[in-house]
Amino acid sequence: MAELILIQSGRARAIPFEPPRPFSELLASEGIHMAHPCGGRGVCGKCAVLYETEGGVPETKLGCQLVLTGDARVTLPDSRAASIQLSGTSSLPITLSPMKGRLGAALDIGTTTIAARLFRLADGRCLGEAGMVNPQTQAAADVMGRIGYAMKSGSGHLQRQVLGAIETLLSACLPSEHSREEIDALVLTGNTAMLYLLTGRDPEPLSHAPFQADCLFGTACQVLGIPAYLPPCMNAFVGADITCACLDSGQYDAGGISLLCDIGTNGELALLKDGVLRVCSTAAGPAFEGAGISCGCGGVEGAIDRVWIEDGALAYGTIGGKPPIGLCGSGLLDAAAALLDLGLVDDTGATDLDRLEIGGGIALLPRDIRALQLAKAAIAAGIRTLLHGASLAPEQLSTLYIAGGFGAHLNIESAVRIGLIPASLSQKVRVVGNAALSGACRLLLEEPSIRRAHAIADSARHVNLGGDPVFNEYYMDEMFFPES
Ligand code: FES
Repeated sequence: MAELILIQSGRARAIPFEPPRPFSELLASEGIHMAHPCGGRGVCGKCAVLYETEGGVPETKLGCQLVLTGDARVTLPDSRAASIQLSGTSSLPITLSPMKGRLGAALDIGTTTIAARLFRLADGRCLGEAGMVNPQTQAAADVMGRIGYAMKSGSGHLQRQVLGAIETLLSACLPSEHSREEIDALVLTGNTAMLYLLTGRDPEPLSHAPFQADCLFGTACQVLGIPAYLPPCMNAFVGADITCACLDSGQYDAGGISLLCDIGTNGELALLKDGVLRVCSTAAGPAFEGAGISCGCGGVEGAIDRVWIEDGALAYGTIGGKPPIGLCGSGLLDAAAALLDLGLVDDTGATDLDRLEIGGGIALLPRDIRALQLAKAAIAAGIRTLLHGASLAPEQLSTLYIAGGFGAHLNIESAVRIGLIPASLSQKVRVVGNAALSGACRLLLEEPSIRRAHAIADSARHVNLGGDPVFNEYYMDEMFFPES
């Protein structure tokens, strides 16, 4: 008996099987149905998956042609996965002035997920989009773990994994009337470490103080034999994804005083004042992504993503209206806010209960509340430290841009209730979704934006929070929830 590890929508499941077994047949027997637009004749490429075997090179395979001969791991692209935020909400119009070629793709290589969008360059028409879990998560979940893995085992395997994922996503985006050979341009954004691993650079300089990147990209190269542009990073921990988000959200062009927050395992913050971006990165941990929480899960079907108070008790909703399987990040925030309002948790995070029942058998434990306090304190203290350094009060900000997948599902009232963002900014929030991907698309379709991306990265001043006594003081303060 062999075992298939299938990764779909951020969840892994083990499926035992007797080899050899056609992959599509095995999926069907498990009730999973992949689309086969060409009837499984192996000509449309729309069923591409990322296939890995122990010690083998990760490869893109056509699911309809794949026969499993032993233990394997397969990651499915999924453009409808709720956990992979594909869209951004740029307010800036694009003036078409594309990179040269027939087709072009923009990709955001996130630590957890990779998102792609393919365009016909002549008229800027979007031909397809897809996302998948970054297969490198198999090696380590977070950036530092990934860097550690590369230093210990070499970065070759991680590089092959991300290249395989890119190839898989390009296939998934490509309409059947076009061929892979027509893709003439790529823009690949991501955090600094992800771009190091993509290009096979040794990430050792990112692993220790003073955390100085020896390359910040903003360069052209070849990826999978396709001319590619990698936008500029700001420093070792504020990457090209934030440059793209500042570009596409319109934050930089709008001028004035504003703050952009990308809230995830790492919170990245960019405060604009007088044309200068003060940027920092703050380690929030995985709680906002539903990880490290006893009943946590990603933003997948069945995840409780909304919690509210109804007739003095908690009520909840799940993604897809399915039976609850756990709490995702936005549900966690809502739940904490409601528990505070009900007085079941106090402003220190203390509770008299061993289990805080949310509903449907899902409950938070006191240690989950503690993990949320740590995560929210990291972000809130980062915001306060940036504002302090610029001698600003929150009220002076004209806009708070919230970027990233978690931010797209955030209930602003709950975020304010738990003290993640200052109350005075609640009316000034603009949720911009996956602005990193949208920014990469803009660079592909509007070449003058490349100059602006460089101006944004050049204007960045790094604020190092590590060991900063102001940050430490705010961090201790922000461990508490606001009093009601
Ligand atoms: S379904 Fe068309 S190539 Fe597999």
